Amino acid sequence: MKAIHLHGRGGPDRLVYEDAPQPHPGSGEVLVRVHATSIIATELTWDETYQTAAGNPRSRPIPGHDVSGIVEEVGPGVTTLARGSEVYALTAFDRDGAEAEYTIALPNELASKPRSLDHVQAAAVPLSALTAWQALFEHASLGAGQTVFIHGAAGGVGVFAVQLARWAGAHIIATASARHHEFLHELGATQIIDYTTQRFEELVQHVDLVFDLVGGDTLKQSWKVVKPGGVLVSVVSPRPSFEEAKAHDVRPVWFVVEPNREQLTHIGALIDAGHIRPFLAGVFPLSQARQAYEQALRGHMQGKLVLRIGDG
Ligand SMILES: NC(=O)c1ccc[n+]([C@@H]2O[C@H](COP(=O)([O-])OP(=O)(O)OC[C@H]3O[C@@H](n4cnc5c(N)ncnc54)[C@H](OP(=O)(O)O)[C@@H]3O)[C@@H](O)[C@H]2O)c1
Repeated sequence: MKAIHLHGRGGPDRLVYEDAPQPHPGSGEVLVRVHATSIIATELTWDETYQTAAGNPRSRPIPGHDVSGIVEEVGPGVTTLARGSEVYALTAFDRDGAEAEYTIALPNELASKPRSLDHVQAAAVPLSALTAWQALFEHASLGAGQTVFIHGAAGGVGVFAVQLARWAGAHIIATASARHHEFLHELGATQIIDYTTQRFEELVQHVDLVFDLVGGDTLKQSWKVVKPGGVLVSVVSPRPSFEEAKAHDVRPVWFVVEPNREQLTHIGALIDAGHIRPFLAGVFPLSQARQAYEQALRGHMQGKLVLRIGDG
């Protein structure tokens, strides 16, 4: 099969489009014919990309852990999926990924692809929507009538966070550069702050939840805008400071998104019901993965970049 291999640790220049052995599903595994996968730009910097769960080096890893495709074969013991099923998933980061014609996934990672999306659209969903879901609902129990403040709201994760918060009945304040404001307003944000010209800490106060997708100074200035007893969730390294959190009486959360079939099924139902949808910043063929990473690393996108594979 054709695949993208990482030839050593580094940036997009280490990505090579070449032949790779087709994987075979072992016991409890599923072989998926990949139709599309999306770009997770920071993946090239993670330790998990270059070592196994046991800490051993991985040779020429295949990146890409968002997948939309069709079940090609199920391994022994798999009873919940059948050949021909249309599926999508976030797969574990320490195994070979989906920038390939075939990939291995586990039954508890795979959900039915939303019927209203094609594979290219569906591939933009799993990592970003699961990150938003887990931040808002699992870690912060966001509810109707509460106020959430989302930093980096127009990006891959942000577009799902805004739509999920609107679906939950929350009030949404967002930061983004000016060119995204009309878009975010249409998605459901009521107050949008241009971080390039305004200081959000002078305009926002007493929110129930900050969801930080930016880190650095943005995270540092965010403590004071959360009400006492509120929550600050960040998914950007380094982790929030416990001392700062204590000083502001805010509960800090930092987490890494986890594959979750049930949550993805729920997200798919919301997509098919028209409550939320993915946004594509661009689509590339698998052979141009390097160019897609270069664009993703330049940032400032609206939604996700997707790689189309085969006839996906
Ligand atoms: N821990 C985890 O499990 C996990 C999971 C997913 C993502 N992440 C991390 O979360 C971050 C966001 O991911 P993503 O996929 O949404 O990235 P992305 O698509 O690149 O979006 C980031 C957005 O932030 C905006 N931005 C840049 N600087 C900003 C600032 N100072 N203030 C406000 N907005 C700013 C950019 O839009 P403008 O055009 O408005 O500048 C961009 O749309 C990344 O660092 C990623 O690695 C972590």
